[in-house]
Amino acid sequence: MLSQSRLLHSPLALATRHCAGAAVGTPTSLRATSLKLINAAQMRVSIQESTDYRRSGELARQVLQQLRQQDNPHTHFGFGLNLFHHGLQSATRALRNGENEELVVMALLHDVCEHTVPSGHGPAAALVLGPYLSEENRWILENHEIFQGYYYYELLGEDKNKRDAYRDSPYFDACVRFCELYDVPSFDPDYATEPLSTFEPMVHALFQRKPKQQGACSMME
Ligand SMILES: [Fe+2]
Ligand SMILES: [Fe+2]
Repeated sequence: MLSQSRLLHSPLALATRHCAGAAVGTPTSLRATSLKLINAAQMRVSIQESTDYRRSGELARQVLQQLRQQDNPHTHFGFGLNLFHHGLQSATRALRNGENEELVVMALLHDVCEHTVPSGHGPAAALVLGPYLSEENRWILENHEIFQGYYYYELLGEDKNKRDAYRDSPYFDACVRFCELYDVPSFDPDYATEPLSTFEPMVHALFQRKPKQQGACSMME
């Protein structure tokens, strides 16, 4: 009969513990079980694994998976395309208009949070992508909802010019342009849209950029 110690260190037991912790190869002693008890070595492991998550491409894959979730009959919200195809069409228009990769990816993912954060999806997307974007593009993402409102707020009995509150921003005109050229017209089922595979390498390249700090502190390098 195996001793308790040998059972605890058997290949099966070790594999089970590694599976429970997601990444492989890190001893359980280096995994914090409470933030009240975390030590410097465990903190280094946390930062390293968060960084590896991004550098390995897993973060980009997860964001792309979030986009694929929108290829769903429930995300048309009354329009001619669901959110997934709306993103693809926005990105296709940006690509064909000669925009740089950063803007093309932004067009692809500008509504990537809309199926889970319908109101406030602009700021939500800005949190996801902002660390990898120029400040202008981050601002456009964050505020595009209210700029889009120019085209439909009146139908809701609201002021279509709410965006005018941002007239002093150096990014005002760029946000108007992004909406007008890429977001507004991209619900057309008859437009020949590129497949997601056209844009996947661009998404991966964006998330390989070293992220700018966002929030109180950065847990990723
Ligand atoms: Fe949007
Ligand atoms: Fe949109």
